[in-house]
Amino acid sequence: MATNTATPKKTTAPKTSTKTTTSKTATSKAPATKSKAKKVPAKKDAAKKLEDLFEDGLKDIYWAEKALLKALPKMEKNATDKKLKTAITNHIAETKNQVKRLEDCFSALGKKAEAEKCDAMQGLLDEGKSIMEETEPGAVRDAGIIAASQKIEHYEIATYGTLAAFAKVMKEKRCLKNLLETLEEEKQCDDLLSSIADTNLNTKAK
Ligand SMILES: [Fe+2]
Ligand SMILES: [Fe+2]
Repeated sequence: MATNTATPKKTTAPKTSTKTTTSKTATSKAPATKSKAKKVPAKKDAAKKLEDLFEDGLKDIYWAEKALLKALPKMEKNATDKKLKTAITNHIAETKNQVKRLEDCFSALGKKAEAEKCDAMQGLLDEGKSIMEETEPGAVRDAGIIAASQKIEHYEIATYGTLAAFAKVMKEKRCLKNLLETLEEEKQCDDLLSSIADTNLNTKAK
């Protein structure tokens, strides 16, 4: 893949590299490159208001948290480091509570809790599964589990941060409280994983 993308660039590289010495020339040159991107037509059931987008987001993360509840025990089982095992076990308990908070959000909106497949979380979980297959048990697999888990936490942090911002604009106080509580847990989990990795795992995995 790398050589394929590098080869065609070679033919245009000399001209481009001499002309893009400053950011000004790069900016003025940008409009000349015609984009082939097209406007995406909206589906029939596409969100029309922020409320709709908010509800879609809730369904998405509701699916993601439930999928995590199924995947986390496998990560715990495959971890070796005691602190890491404990961190995952504790996060399973937190995740159960996070699912309940989401159900309370649906209820606050007068809606039935509904899950919609989150392709991003599915991808992250698939990556987590393959990182376990591609590492020997012990410090190296632990480092891989932490790496995969932190990608998941970062996705959750981004999602809850956005949903909390939406809830704030919509003045959905009950939802906002729930979302901020979960956001804080995800951040703390991410920090804990960083500290476990920093204190011993990454050195042992060398
Ligand atoms: Fe979560
Ligand atoms: Fe999490």
